[in-house]
Amino acid sequence: MGAIDAVSSRKLHKARKTMAKPIFILNGPNLNLLGKRQPEIYGAETLADVEQRCTALAAELGLMVRFHQSNHEGQIIDWVHLARDEGAGIIINPGAFTHTSVAILDALNAFEGPVLEVHISNVHKREAFRHHSYVSLRAEGVIAGFGTEGYLLALRRMHTLVSA
Ligand code: DQA
Repeated sequence: MGAIDAVSSRKLHKARKTMAKPIFILNGPNLNLLGKRQPEIYGAETLADVEQRCTALAAELGLMVRFHQSNHEGQIIDWVHLARDEGAGIIINPGAFTHTSVAILDALNAFEGPVLEVHISNVHKREAFRHHSYVSLRAEGVIAGFGTEGYLLALRRMHTLVSA
């Protein structure tokens, strides 16, 4: 095997290894009420609809996803820890924990893969306390104000990041 062949083969091996791991899509508090909660801000789609659309797009992109929601900060941290071994990347909508949780930021800092932050609403157009995000200190990118489509955009970007 020539030198160039060996390099491409290593790259291919690394890509296969990364692609085999799922992308964790984590959702924080109150997002279980999506579709019922303030639809004028968050839209009519449910979180189950979002999960379905993410799963379908992931299949198209050749990715696997693990989609979770919890109202409990510790549970979200446990999923981030799990992703250290089992996840290729994390897409996270931390809900209100975005603006309060140093603990979720610390957990994300202990994760080595790419992290993308999603907000359904445009947090910058809302109350001042929503303008600051602890998670943004870690995230490679932030999507806000694109409605639930933001999850799909994040998944496309994640595909680029984990395939690089
Ligand atoms: C949110 C924005 C947060 O400020 C809020 O607390 C949420 C949802 C969003 O998706 O727009 O729960 O993360």
